[in-house]
Amino acid sequence: MMALSDCQERNNEAGKACSILTADWRDYTQLNRLEKASFRREDNWPFWDLIGILTLPGLVRLKAMVDGQMVGFIGGEREVGKRLGWITTLAVLPDYRRRGIARALLSQAEDELAMPRVRLSVRASNTGAIQLYKSTGYQQVDRWGKYYAGSEDALVFEKLTSSRS
Ligand SMILES: CC(C)(COP(=O)(O)OP(=O)(O)OC[C@H]1O[C@@H](n2cnc3c(N)ncnc32)[C@H](O)[C@@H]1OP(=O)(O)O)[C@@H](O)C(=O)NCCC(=O)NCCS
Repeated sequence: MMALSDCQERNNEAGKACSILTADWRDYTQLNRLEKASFRREDNWPFWDLIGILTLPGLVRLKAMVDGQMVGFIGGEREVGKRLGWITTLAVLPDYRRRGIARALLSQAEDELAMPRVRLSVRASNTGAIQLYKSTGYQQVDRWGKYYAGSEDALVFEKLTSSRS
């Protein structure tokens, strides 16, 4: 399959290429592994949600691949009536973080969503992800009280991407 873009990987001593491709149902096992390695247990998606993000029509599903291994994944969906895109999940394997892979996945997903606004929610304590979103043009627009398991608040971030739509 043709790569959609490079992951612009830094700190890549072995010189292995990182490519972004569209994911499909055959990626279930690798996505499940990535999810388990990236999120705490109570935030892991159930089987049918993972199958859904890999198969339902109209969704954005992109994987970052290095040497045949899925090292990152991003999912997105559209509220077409509201002209709004949502990033529904984003994760990069621990050994591959701080190389620009999430930034590259986010940019490609924003392009594919092709909506004038893109939103996402994040645990209020997830400072690394919040830093990522702030550094890529997202601003906090809402706070959902006790949204996550463990009663933690969600911060809702939004990016105006009108130049892309
Ligand atoms: C959040 C996550 C996706 C970031 O992935 P990543 O590939 O490491 O991110 P990038 O390398 O593209 O980071 C781009 C920028 O975001 C910021 N950033 C990312 N991770 C950060 C961290 N842990 N601490 C501080 N800043 C961070 C930095 O500004 C970074 O640029 P820099 O490396 O030049 O300083 C990854 O840490 C992860 O999978 N975490 C667990 C799952 C998760 O929390 N997902 C988000 C749910 S909302």
